[in-house]
Amino acid sequence: MVKEIPLVWLPGAACTGCSISLLNSASPTIKNILVDQIVPGVHINLRFHPTIMAGAGEQVIKALEDTMTLKKGNYVLAVDGAIPTGPTANYCVMGERNGKAVNIEARFTELAENALAILAVGTCAAFGGIPAAPPNPSNSQPVRKVLEAKGIKKPLINIPGCPPHPDWFVGTVASILLKGLPQPEELDDNLRPLVFYGKLIHENCPRRAYFDEGKFAKKFGDEGCLYELGCKGPITYADCPTRHWNSGTNWVIGAGSPCLGCTQPEFTGYAFYEKLVDVELPVVGAYWQTSKEGK
Ligand code: SF4
Ligand code: SF4
Ligand code: F3S
Repeated sequence: MVKEIPLVWLPGAACTGCSISLLNSASPTIKNILVDQIVPGVHINLRFHPTIMAGAGEQVIKALEDTMTLKKGNYVLAVDGAIPTGPTANYCVMGERNGKAVNIEARFTELAENALAILAVGTCAAFGGIPAAPPNPSNSQPVRKVLEAKGIKKPLINIPGCPPHPDWFVGTVASILLKGLPQPEELDDNLRPLVFYGKLIHENCPRRAYFDEGKFAKKFGDEGCLYELGCKGPITYADCPTRHWNSGTNWVIGAGSPCLGCTQPEFTGYAFYEKLVDVELPVVGAYWQTSKEGK
């Protein structure tokens, strides 16, 4: 007997990068995820995913709406992308009902009200990200804010990243299937699973010794810590330095780029390649203050 868990993937104001990153999952592969049991005895029944499903049009919108009504309270809703809201909600629509376009705010609201739990996949869904960056002409909002505004109280897990590592999504889903929804102490204040987002990039960075010695790269390609080239590693929580990307091939700082802080709520609030100034550096803040003061 295999238990089927229905999953609906709803894209909002998104670039599809989060979906493409999921397709890059190495272990399990996307084929394993779709066809096999992701954990023994449990199969994820992906009912709707516009990027990878074969069907289109009325047929797939019916599958989406049938899942909402027939699997009420039993399906997981994964959202990538922010949610355009209010008078500008029609910037993003998903299918029609009675010949009229259904905007993503309305579609998300009804799907969220009837879901078992919600996963906000990617920084756009989790924190607003690029669509919600000023001047935000579509009044795009992160999933958490829309849920709060509408008084929808459903379990929400944020899995940010631009895009998120496929393991962060697959691992979160597998953990839910194995032992249920995470306990509050397993998430941080931004509702991120601590198992993936519990440590600063800076804590495990192989260039950290350069930072501690005060040896900073002045231009791309230089040896040294990338802090002065805009690295946001000291304020960014994710396990990229130990997990690596693309089946363990490399990662952002390993390829010579500063960390852009893509898993953080502040992602679009900082210039990517400008040095952080006047910030309290978690963990190393006290050291940095002390060393600047020459003590
Ligand atoms: Fe695209 Fe990044 Fe937004 Fe994902 S988080 S939809 S990769 S812009
Ligand atoms: Fe690594 Fe960036 Fe920290 Fe430098 S500032 S040690 S490059 S995370
Ligand atoms: Fe993002 Fe920084 Fe990791 S830019 S992918 S959190 S190294």
